[in-house]
Amino acid sequence: MTTPVLDHLSRPLGSLRLSLTDRCNMRCRYCMPEEEYLWLPRESILTFEEFDRLAGMFLGLGATKIRLTGGEPLLRQDLPSLVRMLSRQPELEDLAMTTNGILLADQAAALHEAGLHRVTVSLDTLRPERMLAYARSPKHPQVLEGITTAKKTGFRAVKLNSVIIRGFNDDEILDLLEYARAHEVELRFIEYMDVGGATKWSMADVVSRADLLRVIGERYGPVQPVAAVGWGAAPAERFLLPDGTQFGIIASTTAPFCRSCDRSRITADGTWYLCLYAEEGIDLRHFLRQGASDGELRALICETWAGRRDRGAEARHALVDRGVLYALEGLRADPRREMHTRGG
Ligand code: GTP
Ligand code: 5AD
Ligand code: SF4
Repeated sequence: MTTPVLDHLSRPLGSLRLSLTDRCNMRCRYCMPEEEYLWLPRESILTFEEFDRLAGMFLGLGATKIRLTGGEPLLRQDLPSLVRMLSRQPELEDLAMTTNGILLADQAAALHEAGLHRVTVSLDTLRPERMLAYARSPKHPQVLEGITTAKKTGFRAVKLNSVIIRGFNDDEILDLLEYARAHEVELRFIEYMDVGGATKWSMADVVSRADLLRVIGERYGPVQPVAAVGWGAAPAERFLLPDGTQFGIIASTTAPFCRSCDRSRITADGTWYLCLYAEEGIDLRHFLRQGASDGELRALICETWAGRRDRGAEARHALVDRGVLYALEGLRADPRREMHTRGG
């Protein structure tokens, strides 16, 4: 029986993001630009059974959507078994995954068969040499193959995420849109965010929602906004080109959506963050491994959510002199401050 719980700003606990690993087989400059990282200790990583138990608690409190993230979630061995476990949860309406796509072609069919509904692939450039320079991976062909395979597999939706950075890929905005149109997938442009781990971030490198709409409007003519409906419609605002092609913009940097944010995330070591920008999380692993009962876990989650006041992106937006969220020493103090650990 579902008992919905609301936070201080009347936001429901709608969407849970499970970051399955802090490891990644890419090094995107907006996320992992450093040479070296501190990794979560192996013994702290939650098992699939532990993730499934926690997911069940959240679903019992009103969550209906789960997204698997990382790091790169496909680096977890035998991911279809977790998907199969989660998809047995009766309250789950939407099970999605965000991946860099490198390992997707091989695993798409098994994941779909296990019950994964939707896939979002990060694609920031159509040029292999750029991906090599900016994400330190030669696997561009595998990413494209991942996208085309996913598209053929029968998922409810396949989306693309493109983080646009000035001087890196802002000359590919139209090419990415054409690629998405040709492959019948929805593209979402994402503003470069000053999240933990983005140690090279500067406002000057952000290509804003307004910049994107100008470039796209100049090429295609008037772009129509599509009305958002209900909770969870954020973060992407949707737009239509004159020919009916739909795309999205996630403007977390210049137009935060905190007021309608129904999401939280659990890191691979079981730390629960109520906001992407939160400094501290709640150590759920401790309670799990100390033998807490379902009732105790539920009460903890309920009370914590009811006290939630976070509006991290809005607080960042309000800063006059906005710089990086954490310099390197701050990040090294706690690897869970990294976006690749928190999973967006
Ligand atoms: P859909 O349900 O398909 O709309 O997916 P999604 O947009 O929730 O998922 P995805 O993982 O693709 O997220 C897209 C991007 O939105 C992330 O990569 C982040 O840049 C940003 N994002 C995700 N969660 C948050 C959040 O809680 N706050 C803010 N400010 N941005 C977020
Ligand atoms: N700004 C915006 N999005 C980011 N991501 C990671 N780091 C950043 C950042 N600094 C997002 C990308 C990618 C997803 C896994 O995380 O959208 O698709
Ligand atoms: Fe890039 Fe995602 Fe890996 Fe970060 S976690 S380096 S965004 S692929």
